[in-house]
Amino acid sequence: MELHLKGKVAVVTGASKGIGLAVVEGLVREGAKVVAGSRTSTPELDALAAAHDVSVVSVDLSTAEGAEALVRAAVERHGRIDILVNNVGAAEPRESFLKVTDEDWQKVFGVTFFSAVRASRAALPHLLAAEGASIVNISSINARLPFPMVVDYSAAKAALTNLNKALSEEFAPQGVRVNAVSPGPVRTPFWTAPGGFADATAAAAGTTAQEALDVVVPQSMGIASGRITEAHEVADLTLFLASPLAGNITGAEIVIDGGQIKTL
Ligand SMILES: NC(=O)c1ccc[n+]([C@@H]2O[C@H](COP(=O)([O-])OP(=O)(O)OC[C@H]3O[C@@H](n4cnc5c(N)ncnc54)[C@H](OP(=O)(O)O)[C@@H]3O)[C@@H](O)[C@H]2O)c1
Repeated sequence: MELHLKGKVAVVTGASKGIGLAVVEGLVREGAKVVAGSRTSTPELDALAAAHDVSVVSVDLSTAEGAEALVRAAVERHGRIDILVNNVGAAEPRESFLKVTDEDWQKVFGVTFFSAVRASRAALPHLLAAEGASIVNISSINARLPFPMVVDYSAAKAALTNLNKALSEEFAPQGVRVNAVSPGPVRTPFWTAPGGFADATAAAAGTTAQEALDVVVPQSMGIASGRITEAHEVADLTLFLASPLAGNITGAEIVIDGGQIKTL
């Protein structure tokens, strides 16, 4: 399917690994130009930058300045922005709500919610000036499945899904579509990094991290398809929503969770 993204300028937050990296890969495959933001780069992102029009920008998106610096870098390099993918987000496994401090809440909201507020605010003047521009917010099924293990993250994603709708209401009439993608568990470093959710699940179930992701998580979370989602599958959906093929889709939240959410 031709997505008509050739030559478009896209800003991707949290771009060095996982879903963000898969979005960058998909965008360059379609001929888009990418400005990729994260604190550090990876060999995979560096390889994309060496072969395609990908600018790697080192920014801490949990800070007020980070998102602005990323958007500024995109405008300085390309003079415009057509697509913003608010992908960055982070969570830590929590034992109990009672142990989550103010600092923890602020950290998770900073990187998961305020990063999107700030990147959108900085990018919107440029998106409004472009033809057929759009924002895709990578939210989560936790926006409506508030698990105690990720109590702060779930609340931040609920705020992001809410913001998604408000931005669509204000800016779709002016030509900028705004949509959210809400994945269930996705095989990325978010789960697989040492000490991450795969290790925590494996320890609780008395198994390996691999087995936890392939068997325990799908079964215990009721994932109807029997498997977790792959990063490239989230990227494909994101690219579709960003493309003119989704030209009359705005204010939507598309869930990609293998049938984990059971309600209509
Ligand atoms: N994986 C899942 O199961 C899942 C499910 C639902 C939703 N999501 C959402 O999908 C998005 C991407 O998740 P993922 O699984 O791909 O995460 P990931 O594998 O942990 O990758 C996170 C990316 O964000 C960057 N990042 C983290 N903190 C940052 C900061 N302060 N400033 C700038 N960049 C930062 C990381 O690079 P650096 O560390 O170098 O900065 C990395 O590139 C997140 O919003 C997440 O909440 C994930």
